[in-house]
Amino acid sequence: MLMEQCGMWGGWTVLLLWSLNLSAADFTCPQKCVCYPDTLEVNCSSKQLTGVPDGLPNNVKRLDLSGNQLKTIARRQFSGLSKLEDLNLSENIISMIEVEAFQGLKNLRYLRIKNNRLKILPVGVFSGLTNLRRLDISENEILVFLDFTFRDMVNLQQLDAGENDLVFISQRAFVGLQALKELNVDRSNLTSIPTEALSQLQCLTKLRLRKLTIGVLPNNAFRGLNQLRTLQILHWPSLETLNSNSLVGLNLTTLTLTNCNLSAVPYASLRHLVYLQYLDLSYNPIISIQSNLLGELVRLQELHLVGGNLLRIEPGAFRGLVHFRLLNVSSNRLSTLEESVFHSVGILQTLRLDRNPLTCDCRLLWVVRRRRRLDFDGRQPTCSVPNQVYRKAIRDFSEAELPVIFVCRQAQILNRQLQDASVVEGTNVQFECKADGYPSPSVTWLSAQQTVLSSVGRIRALANGSLEVRYAQVQDSGTYLCTAANAAGNDSITVSLQVEGLPQNRTASYFSDVRWTETSLPPSTNSSARASSRYPFDAKTLIIATTMGFLSFLSSVAICFVFMFFWSQSKGQIKHTATIDFVPRSSMAGGGDGGDTGRFTMKLI
Ligand SMILES: *[C@@H]1O[C@H](CO)[C@@H](O)[C@H](O)[C@H]1NC(C)=O
Ligand SMILES: *[C@@H]1O[C@H](CO)[C@@H](O)[C@H](O)[C@H]1NC(C)=O
Ligand SMILES: *[C@@H]1O[C@H](CO)[C@@H](O)[C@H](O)[C@H]1NC(C)=O
Ligand SMILES: *[C@@H]1O[C@H](CO)[C@@H](O)[C@H](O)[C@H]1NC(C)=O
Ligand SMILES: *[C@@H]1O[C@H](CO)[C@@H](O)[C@H](O)[C@H]1NC(C)=O
Ligand SMILES: *[C@@H]1O[C@H](CO)[C@@H](O)[C@H](O)[C@H]1NC(C)=O
Ligand SMILES: *[C@@H]1O[C@H](CO)[C@@H](O)[C@H](O)[C@H]1NC(C)=O
Ligand SMILES: *[C@@H]1O[C@H](CO)[C@@H](O)[C@H](O)[C@H]1NC(C)=O
Ligand SMILES: *[C@@H]1O[C@H](CO)[C@@H](O)[C@H](O)[C@H]1NC(C)=O
Ligand SMILES: *[C@@H]1O[C@H](CO)[C@@H](O)[C@H](O)[C@H]1NC(C)=O
Repeated sequence: MLMEQCGMWGGWTVLLLWSLNLSAADFTCPQKCVCYPDTLEVNCSSKQLTGVPDGLPNNVKRLDLSGNQLKTIARRQFSGLSKLEDLNLSENIISMIEVEAFQGLKNLRYLRIKNNRLKILPVGVFSGLTNLRRLDISENEILVFLDFTFRDMVNLQQLDAGENDLVFISQRAFVGLQALKELNVDRSNLTSIPTEALSQLQCLTKLRLRKLTIGVLPNNAFRGLNQLRTLQILHWPSLETLNSNSLVGLNLTTLTLTNCNLSAVPYASLRHLVYLQYLDLSYNPIISIQSNLLGELVRLQELHLVGGNLLRIEPGAFRGLVHFRLLNVSSNRLSTLEESVFHSVGILQTLRLDRNPLTCDCRLLWVVRRRRRLDFDGRQPTCSVPNQVYRKAIRDFSEAELPVIFVCRQAQILNRQLQDASVVEGTNVQFECKADGYPSPSVTWLSAQQTVLSSVGRIRALANGSLEVRYAQVQDSGTYLCTAANAAGNDSITVSLQVEGLPQNRTASYFSDVRWTETSLPPSTNSSARASSRYPFDAKTLIIATTMGFLSFLSSVAICFVFMFFWSQSKGQIKHTATIDFVPRSSMAGGGDGGDTGRFTMKLI
């Protein structure tokens, strides 16, 4: 319904203009200008004019006054030129346009006032321009758009307002622009999105906002723009966040968010854009494209993410995208691109993967196999690893080389000996899981409860693949699974742990394990938090007890010291150092802290 309305205005006026198209009658030509009577055109471009020339023919259709020294445009300056359709006032030094300057130009369709020195646009400047289709007021110094500035322009379809110093767009500035389809606001000093003003533009289909200094795209930023199909947000260097409802109400087919500061794909804000076909997120510091988060963009055909920080595109990243035919991830840090990333590589037509440090192994074999069919846009992907094919383009590999270079070795766990451990409560245990393969396999450990163990916590997976269980608890008993996996396959082993509980009268020994209390103080995961509830003493008690013990030790040392000092004074001989021996507590010595000498040397005053 609304869309029909948006189209109708244009249709009727084309018909009207066509019927008014009269032929050339008497066509006078002002001095200095070049005239073309057959096309009803007067060209006064770059003639050093300081004012609009006299004697313009009444039936002129095109008038070019660009590149002159015009300073002001007076009220009703062009009043006789009712047939004028195209007026070019660009590249002058116009700083003032009086109210009703264009009154009478009822057939003007295209007005250019680009690159002048306008600071303000008084309300009424554009009155009477009911048939204008395109207005270009870019490259001026306009600061604000006041209410009703564009009121009469009911047929305006394109407004170029870029490269001004706009700091404010009044809420009703765009009232009357009921046919506007395209708005460009490039480089402005706006600090917020003029949501209210934009919501007047019911027919807007394309909006470009360039070089703004906004850090967050707020929710409902483009409310009411339900005909908008193309949104371009370019060069917003401080834009870090899109709130999840920022694009709500929009039904876009093209979205460009480039040269911003987004560190992740804004999955949540995109989710509802089911008609989106083209998405460009280039030149943002995005590190990865995660799996299964773009699946709702069912009509997506192209994704561009050039010049980002992409390290990884996860398997399944484009799952569900059955029309996905172009991926442009040139100039990133990708070491590979697996076939499993795509819904189906059969529909992929164009792939830009150049300028990435690619590892040429079996994971890229699907690209090599399709190297004649895939369109690389003239930029072949090249290998960085292995060394013997450094910088070699995918295209240049012969069939014979493929089984040599583009291979992987399935992940294999090296030490497969039985590693079952049976220990008493409180012991530290390590299980080994070293794996080999090409590319280097990733090793993961699953607990007896089937949860993936991370690198932090009391039970943790170490960087070298081993599993460490510190201060084993009875409930840690069970079977643990180690899996090593790479692109060529996976391998796994199980180990089992039996922890035997201690009788209560041994609890005193918990105190002695000073090293353990230190390392496990921050209960960093749920597993350690769960375990700590079963400890006979909580961590705080242990700290206090340890601290008190240490304080009493220090105070006895101090008292000894004072005695020795007075004793040496009374003897008359001055001793400058004193060596105090003490017996280290068994746990500290037994803990293997190495160079514990059990001796202090102190200097006397
Ligand atoms: C007027 O002439 C200049 C060159 O002198 C040309 O660039 C410009 O396109 C012409 N204008 C029109 C409307 O043809
Ligand atoms: C002035 O604008 C018209 C279109 O309105 C264009 O055809 C013409 O080339 C422009 N003149 C110059 C010198 O760019
Ligand atoms: C607009 O921003 C530009 C560049 O950031 C700056 O040079 C100019 O002074 C600003 N203008 C106003 C009116 O704030
Ligand atoms: C971009 O974001 C990073 C942190 O996310 C910040 O350090 C940097 O200053 C931001 N850049 C700009 C231009 O705001
Ligand atoms: C969204 O846009 C598409 C493509 O222009 C159109 O086919 C569809 O009807 C629109 N949906 C709504 C709800 O406006
Ligand atoms: C990929 O992106 C680059 C940089 O934006 C662009 O120049 C190139 O045309 C794009 N390639 C395709 C096939 O769209
Ligand atoms: C793994 O690393 C841990 C600590 O970093 C070390 O104690 C252990 O001996 C290592 N295991 C193997 C098999 O190298
Ligand atoms: C290991 O490989 C099997 C098939 O060989 C597969 O079903 C399983 O999901 C893989 N596991 C991991 C962790 O990759
Ligand atoms: C702990 O107590 C049990 C009896 O309750 C006794 O048999 C055992 O020897 C005690 N162990 C130690 C280490 O004191
Ligand atoms: C701990 O578990 C709760 C729910 O069981 C979860 O919400 C929370 O994120 C977990 N914390 C950590 C650090 O894993």
